[in-house]
Amino acid sequence: MSGQTAPAAPEAAVTVDVPAKINPHLGVGDARADGYHALATVYQAVSVYDTVTAERRSEPGVELTIIGEGADTLPTGESNLAHKAAQLVALYGEIETGVRLRLHKRIPVAGGLAGGSADAAAALVACARLWEIEIGDAELHRLAAGLGSDVPFCLKGGVAVGAGRGEELTRVDARGSWHWVVATTDTQIPTPECYEEVDRLRAEGIGRFSDDVEPIVKAFESGVGADDLARLLVNDMEAAAVSLRPQLASLMHGGLEEGALAAHVSGSGPTVLFLVEGSKHASALARRLRMRGGARSVHLAHGPVAGPLE
Ligand code: C5P
Repeated sequence: MSGQTAPAAPEAAVTVDVPAKINPHLGVGDARADGYHALATVYQAVSVYDTVTAERRSEPGVELTIIGEGADTLPTGESNLAHKAAQLVALYGEIETGVRLRLHKRIPVAGGLAGGSADAAAALVACARLWEIEIGDAELHRLAAGLGSDVPFCLKGGVAVGAGRGEELTRVDARGSWHWVVATTDTQIPTPECYEEVDRLRAEGIGRFSDDVEPIVKAFESGVGADDLARLLVNDMEAAAVSLRPQLASLMHGGLEEGALAAHVSGSGPTVLFLVEGSKHASALARRLRMRGGARSVHLAHGPVAGPLE
């Protein structure tokens, strides 16, 4: 059988690292007929990673175990998005055997960093590779969007504009790298609650839809410095998040006092992002924030980074 190579044996396990996301621009419009809000957002994948491993198991079904930060607070059954993602891939590929999924969490849980969506995106990729299922881009996007509004971006990474409810993506060619200090808090804000608060504030005439993403898109494409980016950060959910958890205001204020270029609530919160000049500034600010107290944990991150498909 010279000149021929044996087909590669199927892999027994596939491991995928998946980054967290932030929204340097998060414009929130009115609630639509389906209950979702129209978004004009810019996503950036940042260097805080969860790791998802998918292993073959002969019995059907999904067995999920979770270790790492906040693992004991997360469901391991069918309500977990990564569990759902594995089931969707099995259904799509008509797979009769099962999978053992292991999540190693480093992305802070329920922090507005899309940790659950990232795990779901990684589970889609890992299971498709494990079972050697060819899923076209459009189909993978459809499965991801069915799992959650942020899941399609979590597949892609980098920088992208998100329209619709966040799932309609246009890639942005960002030139450069920006550094962030990520400060989590002891509190939680369920995403739907934060959207409801946006609606309530709008009904009182507070806030408007920041639907123009062009200035920040151009800034990423031209590789602006952090000083300039600081002036372009937008989050229409920030007032709602601060209204629900007023302690966020003092955390944001504290970071600015310690020298951050900007303080920015991450998504629907309650995590706060501080934009800094570079890695040295990030370490110095992180040290000062830890000494000051007020944050549950403080992480360093930079972005954009590649997603699990790139
Ligand atoms: O899409 P996902 O399941 O992540 O959304 C969680 C919840 O956040 C939705 O049920 C909805 O209440 C709210 N949401 C929204 N508008 C969006 C995205 C999410 O109102 N664009």
